[in-house]
Amino acid sequence: MGFEHIPVLLTKVIECMDLKADALIVDGTLGLGGYSEAFLKRSSRWRVVGIDRDEQARDIACRRLAPFGERFLALDGDFRNMKELCVSAGICTVDCVVLDLGVSNMQLADGRRGFSFREDGPLDMRMDPAAGTLSAAELVNGISREALTDIFRKYGEERFAWSIAGEIVKERLKRPITTTAGLVEVIRRGIPAPVMRKMNGHPARKVFQALRIAVNDELGALEQGLNEAFSLLAQGGRLLVVTYHSLEDRIVKRRFKEWSEEGKGVPEPRKGQVPDDEEIERNPKSRSARLRGFFKKDMPSKAEGRIGPWRKV
Ligand SMILES: C[S@@+](CC[C@H](N)C(=O)[O-])C[C@H]1O[C@@H](n2cnc3c(N)ncnc32)[C@H](O)[C@@H]1O
Repeated sequence: MGFEHIPVLLTKVIECMDLKADALIVDGTLGLGGYSEAFLKRSSRWRVVGIDRDEQARDIACRRLAPFGERFLALDGDFRNMKELCVSAGICTVDCVVLDLGVSNMQLADGRRGFSFREDGPLDMRMDPAAGTLSAAELVNGISREALTDIFRKYGEERFAWSIAGEIVKERLKRPITTTAGLVEVIRRGIPAPVMRKMNGHPARKVFQALRIAVNDELGALEQGLNEAFSLLAQGGRLLVVTYHSLEDRIVKRRFKEWSEEGKGVPEPRKGQVPDDEEIERNPKSRSARLRGFFKKDMPSKAEGRIGPWRKV
């Protein structure tokens, strides 16, 4: 099945990389390989390690990037473990880590993956079904109304979280909710009719986003992945992150600020970058994207730090 994913903010990401001639880059969210392909084309001496926890995406990317031979290496796993993944592939430091968060169009468009509120399919939403985590159906049918409300509020900022969670509990007493279309139907019942009539977006958008974030522990992975990326970066290396909603952006912005206050480097570019009007028109899905970067400062190693004062005496 052919799926297209238009890479978001790609030109700005490449502008911000500012790398040496023989750089080693980790693309921690390989997806369909759009970013990685652009990096490999950008310089014939750059090498890219692509990580994704979605097997289907990795397979597509590997076929696409096969012409680059040994300059590209795909690793199977979660970017929250990127240091361990890289070390086991014999890589101890890299010059740049790029994360383009969220899901790809392939995952959204394929109803069989259960991410889409527009396509009917099994209510799954796991990026890596082999990881042993709960599917969206298991969450929806298994946890309390309070816990569902919490997820819808926290990860979806859904105003009608409590009422939607109530409808879910009522429905699952009759029969389990196992399909995306079934869940959409129940969500509709939880939103007051006058609000539904005035709504701009799809009524299930926020709940689907919330469930996807919870099922894949996306914010936990991001918190951990940022630290892993920082420890993997060589001195003078760069971390670039493209986020798609305020929950992700807040985590990245806060972490970069903390690192900067600890003297570990500087946010660069200083402010988040957003797509221009032309990109939004060409690819409306880029509308909410924001790119942030961090430049890891050259720091004296611990050994140098200790030797310094002795030399002065
Ligand atoms: C927006 S897409 C990336 C698209 C890619 N930049 C391109 O141009 O084709 C995000 C990808 O990141 C993957 N992903 C999300 N969270 C991940 C994680 N914690 N570890 C590894 N991969 C992850 C998803 O499976 C998805 O394929």
